[in-house]
Amino acid sequence: MTPATSGFDGRTYLVTGGGSGIGRAIALALGAAGAHVVVAGRTPDRLAETVRLLEADGAQALAVPTDVRDPAAVDALVTRSVERFGALDGLVNNAAGNFVASGIDLSPNGWRAVVDIVLNGSFHCTRAVARRLREQGTPGSILSVIATYAWHGHPGTVHSAAAKAGVLAMTRTLAVELAPLGIRLNCLAPGPTETEGAGAALWATPQARQEVLDSVPAGRFAAPREIADAALFLLGEGASYLTGECLTVDGGQWLGKQVYGRSATATA
Ligand code: HXC
Repeated sequence: MTPATSGFDGRTYLVTGGGSGIGRAIALALGAAGAHVVVAGRTPDRLAETVRLLEADGAQALAVPTDVRDPAAVDALVTRSVERFGALDGLVNNAAGNFVASGIDLSPNGWRAVVDIVLNGSFHCTRAVARRLREQGTPGSILSVIATYAWHGHPGTVHSAAAKAGVLAMTRTLAVELAPLGIRLNCLAPGPTETEGAGAALWATPQARQEVLDSVPAGRFAAPREIADAALFLLGEGASYLTGECLTVDGGQWLGKQVYGRSATATA
């Protein structure tokens, strides 16, 4: 049996949105498994902190401030990663933008901002890394972080839900196109995870937080490390025949809603 964390030693992974939350947790888990890690995102200070944590843990890491909405910047990110580490082996599309807004009141620019980061940014990064892998002639793994509302939708998230659904469709399409090159693509759909960004954007008040908590049959938020563990499984050799799939890691949240409606339990 292949352990979930084997096969990362000396390989290089690019993590977008690696300066905080789930992205940082995945970056740190990759580093702990022996990988070289490139973190990309818009806020240099946060990226630098992730690199500091990785290096303190003995990993080699590089921060490249990048806006994934800009295809030229993404190409430059791949070039810098290869200059530093010699090759690329995988990508985590984790960069996201989100805020709660009713669709009818959402401005065209608000829609565009989220779709540009989540859907277009994931495409630019996937395309650039897949082209690099093809040039290298090596296999690789691409993981995109989405959300279960990609398939069930959720009020207040029309921009994000539509963008994440697009990322899921992109993943399934490219999984078939790129399988002959040995490139696997999968998605990971975390449930509510205890991160600063999600807390501020999605459950900013104690009441909103409690409502989210009540919707999770497991009765708690995920720790970022639990999401990172699933990400490493999907990226690594333990999932070598797995492509075009989405793994939901949400404490039973979305299935619970199908059974019980809005709350996690029949009596809640
Ligand atoms: C309504 C808003 C808004 C809000 C921004 N806008 N915030 N509209 N309510 N709270 C509108 C602005 O008014 C503007 O439209 C447009 O969106 C662009 O805003 P900018 O601030 O100029 O854009 P930008 O600086 O590019 O910021 C992008 C962003 C921002 C998405 C708006 O929130 C961001 O970058 N966030 C990144 C971090 C983040 O959101 N992380 C949380 C991810 S958690 P107008 O018309 O005024 O010009 C996550 C988990 C999901 O995704 C899964 C849960 C289970």
